Amino acid sequence: MSSLSQPVTVPFAASAPGRVNLIGEHTDYNDGFVLPMAIERHVTIHVRPREDRLAVLRTQRDRRPVSLDLTATVAPVARGWSNYVRGVIEGYRRIGFVIPGFDADISATLPAGAGLSSSAALEVAMATVVETLCGRSLSRVEKALLCQRAEHEFAGVPCGIMDQFAVCCGEAGHALQLDCRSREVVAVPIDAAVRVLVFDSGVKHSLADGEYAKRRAECASAAQGLGVGSLRDVTVADLEAAAGRLPATEFARARHVVGEIARVPAFVGALRDRDWDRAGQLMGKSHRSLSADYAVSCPELDRIVALSAGVPGIIGCRMTGGGFGGCAVALVEADGAEATARVLHDAYRDATGIDAAWFLTAAASGPTVVVD
Ligand code: GLA
Repeated sequence: MSSLSQPVTVPFAASAPGRVNLIGEHTDYNDGFVLPMAIERHVTIHVRPREDRLAVLRTQRDRRPVSLDLTATVAPVARGWSNYVRGVIEGYRRIGFVIPGFDADISATLPAGAGLSSSAALEVAMATVVETLCGRSLSRVEKALLCQRAEHEFAGVPCGIMDQFAVCCGEAGHALQLDCRSREVVAVPIDAAVRVLVFDSGVKHSLADGEYAKRRAECASAAQGLGVGSLRDVTVADLEAAAGRLPATEFARARHVVGEIARVPAFVGALRDRDWDRAGQLMGKSHRSLSADYAVSCPELDRIVALSAGVPGIIGCRMTGGGFGGCAVALVEADGAEATARVLHDAYRDATGIDAAWFLTAAASGPTVVVD
């Protein structure tokens, strides 16, 4: 990362990684624990400073430029990728950053709509561009929160804090145990005996279609019904005692969240002890709970998890991210990991006809800036 004490006035490139979540799904907006890691797939923005106060943005796919006047309030548009960028730029403007003009070329090795946080990566890459141009930076926590606000206000997705945090705080070789209540981050080393496999179901997911917001509302209502501020404050025993008091759907949602919050420190313990059986079992439990109680899986993700149980070398497998499609994540033995992934690929293709994309990844670091 170049020093941010001086504005950078020459061409540069800012990159931010995507993320995969190892365990702790749909717990972030319940004040719980999550365990994501940044991955070796990125959104990169090549920047050339301009003399005027315009931001002129292009993407690899959509060559029609989006032009923003940086001297005036930046508003959202009906839909599209530019809302993530607009929200971030407006977020910095509101807190007094005077952003100089720039041309931006946006490209990605990170697939969009696969549940790997391409939107958070775009937001954090743009936040890094703004900070580099201005020669001022926020703390990582403030930066993540600003990006989350952009997603809420400009893209209309009421996401939790996991994605922007994972992207901002990524640490090479480590997963990040984040306490979404205190915002404390603990870096958890990933042992060299295992590798992380990201396996795309081929089903596009969308969080903007209302199901995500519905789950959030059900959790809030369950917490209210249980007389607590958030489901973080509920134990398994509390929940069992309250069985008759909650509507069945809310009870099931709460059962997932309470169990999943407890699974995160248990999984971290299993990683530390190199207890791979236990780690795998916890991933399996997480998936079943997301599928049955939280109803955010889909037949293809369920199929991947079921097939993975019969593939030697796979330690554990579960859906990752918001769900309704997107990717599964598997922990695999490092020895023969590529061959293991190919066995799963072929089994899934034979079962569904889908030629799934997959990759093995190490845990990557957060945003970087390189002067061209
Ligand atoms: C999406 C959201 C996150 C989190 C996950 C589910 O990725 O952006 O905040 O809620 O879903 O764990």
